[in-house]
Amino acid sequence: MERLHITGGRPLRGTLAVQGSKNAVLPILAAAAAVPGRVVLANCPPIRDVAVTRAILEGLGLSLREEKGLLTIDSAELRGCAPDPVLAGQLRSSVLLLGALLARLGRAEIPLPGGCVLGARPLDLHLRSLEALGVEICCREGRLLCRGRPRGGVAALPYPSVGATENLMLAALGARGPVRVLGAAREPEIRDLAAFLRACGARITGDGSPCLRIEPAILHGAVHRVQPDRMEAATWLCAAAATGGSLRLTRLEPQQLRPVLELLRQAGCRIREGRGSVCLEAGPLRAVGPVVTGPYPAFPTDAQAPMMAALLRAQGCTLFEETVFSERFRHVPGLRAFGARIETRGRLARVCGVEALHGAEAAATDLRGGAALVIAALAARGESRITQARHLDRGYGELVRRLQSLGATVEVEK
Ligand code: UD1
Repeated sequence: MERLHITGGRPLRGTLAVQGSKNAVLPILAAAAAVPGRVVLANCPPIRDVAVTRAILEGLGLSLREEKGLLTIDSAELRGCAPDPVLAGQLRSSVLLLGALLARLGRAEIPLPGGCVLGARPLDLHLRSLEALGVEICCREGRLLCRGRPRGGVAALPYPSVGATENLMLAALGARGPVRVLGAAREPEIRDLAAFLRACGARITGDGSPCLRIEPAILHGAVHRVQPDRMEAATWLCAAAATGGSLRLTRLEPQQLRPVLELLRQAGCRIREGRGSVCLEAGPLRAVGPVVTGPYPAFPTDAQAPMMAALLRAQGCTLFEETVFSERFRHVPGLRAFGARIETRGRLARVCGVEALHGAEAAATDLRGGAALVIAALAARGESRITQARHLDRGYGELVRRLQSLGATVEVEK
């Protein structure tokens, strides 16, 4: 999907079932390489990041088959410890194969995602904590060469990195003694990975707290249902709020969305939470704030751009502070093209609501930033074009069909 054409100004109305979580399924797929048995996953989202991860696993010798909504993965023929660099370079979560392959084979050769360890999204926390457990790691010709099963012990993370926590959990599956992870991330996706691994026989406790414990265990295959995608849910809610719509989302866990729901309520939306569902009725929006992103249970960085787009027409000014990533306002120039009033300084952005947005052409720069542009286009009067829309394929399955089912006028431009 390269370009989207959107005619805005129509409220989104209807019901949607939330897809399986991207950020939960990617570590679970990596984990399948560590499990010597047949894994069956339900609720895998139909997104490009899953397709790319599947291709990487197939390249390592795993067999993957999808039938009636279930993905079966068999790692009996695992033969490689070096994922394809072109495929692995496409997504950051490929680095989780480091932990999974170390656990299973005691070695891994992982291409550097983006090619630079000390760049904008470094891997220092992953690597230092694994080295603290005795894994030997060196970097040669753009690859991380890792050797040795971790010994038992303590790995302390100075920041609760989601990916580093997941890599440690996976590597610890093959450790020679119990591993404790201190300062672990507490995101719901960590809990889903732990639930999957426990179903496979792993002995993991403490997930959802900053202190994890993983004890040696023999792993086997299992069936697991991937949890709902709280970021997809947040995106749909923001889109409904921005367009003055009303939306019922099903198959989600509302308690995982607390800070998002709280802000949308403050902004003037009527929200009812049910068991596995949320109903949102948008009213005239007012500024909220400040919106400060942070590790779970704080406001999620992945919902920052969609929330900003939702508030472009709210009465008053909202301050956003992005504390997780250093460069996560790349959607702002695109939003300004629709007539939005946004000032940024470093990690702060101030959004002052305007009466109306107008149609525009804007290029998606990343997954959630691209979603913010789509929301602005849906809320704007007139016609818009979103270019580089392929970024959206990474995390939103069947986006166009789902938008159309809610009454949006949107099509893919050939
Ligand atoms: C995961 C999510 C991503 C989300 C992010 C934060 C997946 C596939 N992706 O990304 O959608 O936005 O969590 O909730 O699950 N950092 C370091 N050194 C490291 C590792 C991280 O400095 O070794 C920094 C990062 O640059 C960033 C911060 O820590 O500033 C958070 O990163 P992290 O929690 O690791 O995010 P990811 O796992 O990459």
